[in-house]
Amino acid sequence: MEKTIAVEQERRDFLKGAAVVGIGLAATPLLKGRAEAATAATPAPPAGKPKLTMAEVLRVAREKLYPRCRVCPECNGVACAGEVPGFGGIGSGQSFRNNYESLKRIQLNMRVLHDMKKPVMTVNIFGEDLALPVLSAATGGVTYNMGGKMQEEEYINAILGGCRDAKTLGLAADGIGDPLETFKRRMDVLKSAYNGKGIVILKPRAQEEILKRVRLMEEAGAVAFGMDIDSAGRAARALPGQTVEPKTLAQLKELVNATKLPFILKGVMTVDEAETAAQAGVKAIVVSNHGGRVLDYTPGVAEILPAIAAKVKGKVLIMADGAVRRGCDVLKLLALGADVCLVGRPLIRGAHGGGREGVTLMVNAIRQELMDAMVLTGVATVRDVPRSILAEA
Ligand SMILES: Cc1cc2nc3c(=O)[nH]c(=O)nc-3n(C[C@H](O)[C@H](O)[C@H](O)COP(=O)(O)O)c2cc1C
Repeated sequence: MEKTIAVEQERRDFLKGAAVVGIGLAATPLLKGRAEAATAATPAPPAGKPKLTMAEVLRVAREKLYPRCRVCPECNGVACAGEVPGFGGIGSGQSFRNNYESLKRIQLNMRVLHDMKKPVMTVNIFGEDLALPVLSAATGGVTYNMGGKMQEEEYINAILGGCRDAKTLGLAADGIGDPLETFKRRMDVLKSAYNGKGIVILKPRAQEEILKRVRLMEEAGAVAFGMDIDSAGRAARALPGQTVEPKTLAQLKELVNATKLPFILKGVMTVDEAETAAQAGVKAIVVSNHGGRVLDYTPGVAEILPAIAAKVKGKVLIMADGAVRRGCDVLKLLALGADVCLVGRPLIRGAHGGGREGVTLMVNAIRQELMDAMVLTGVATVRDVPRSILAEA
């Protein structure tokens, strides 16, 4: 037992160092040469503001987020295990690692004997055309999770604005302790700066508190709203005035029927709850264990997604999140039954490392990787990704 802990500690320490090295590598002569060669091959950025690079975004993100986030070379939940609040997974961190490992285990069949060169990357959800099947996840707690280096408004602008610039949608979170006034200000930003083009995820508050916020979202013209039902874990120790609770089918139906806004249930991890959500009339579910942050020892999202998709695909929109880091991860989740994916931690790093532009850079990098992976697996459209691209044993 002690030996296991010692090995784990060693690995953490290695990763701590590796994170620095990983980012520092860009400055080594060998890689610097490569970076210069790559720059020489790409057209010069327009005069004026220098073009933001991924290395720079990650460097600044690490400066601002350390030690909340170490910006590890692989964001896999090892170094930050147990760090909630913070960036980690809860308890042993196993649920976060399960997300990462379950995706990593899946390999892709490479197929290049075809004439498919330009895959269709666009999707339409809730009436909105998106340039790729990827949205930001809902991430909140600029102070208690992220260390307070960005103001709430600055952060939400980076996420919503960065996603808009990448022609997709950003999601805004709801702080469990946020008074209604704070939520109002968030909705003002959504309305005035983004014409409502965003999605809001509410905590599973008491019904009447949710309904007050629904009216504000309607006024802001939000595209859709959801509830991270998995935050109900705090029900037993909620502070006065901060009720969060699991919901019954009747309560779920009440929320669905209270508005014309499409309702998203986030935090679905079993087939029966996916079916119950569909029965309640939700428009979408997010297959998610909250990035491994609410319950220890839940399976990885990639493990549970196929069984859920087998029952509710086509009845509700299937969103999925958890350790999506690259375009290949998106492709895998689409092949397993997701319609779109959400990205959490990488975009928090984008926002801290480069603001709105940093978020766009991250999303565009994923889009590029997804497009290349689709060509190399012979997938014509993100709207129909066959499971046969997965090299399943
Ligand atoms: C720092 C942090 C804060 C988060 N805050 C919220 C939140 O307020 N509401 C919510 O629904 N999910 C929240 N999440 C979970 C994300 O929406 C998403 O499910 C998860 O981050 C996906 O995993 P990934 O970060 O590995 O991509 C948070 C995640 C992180 C890392």
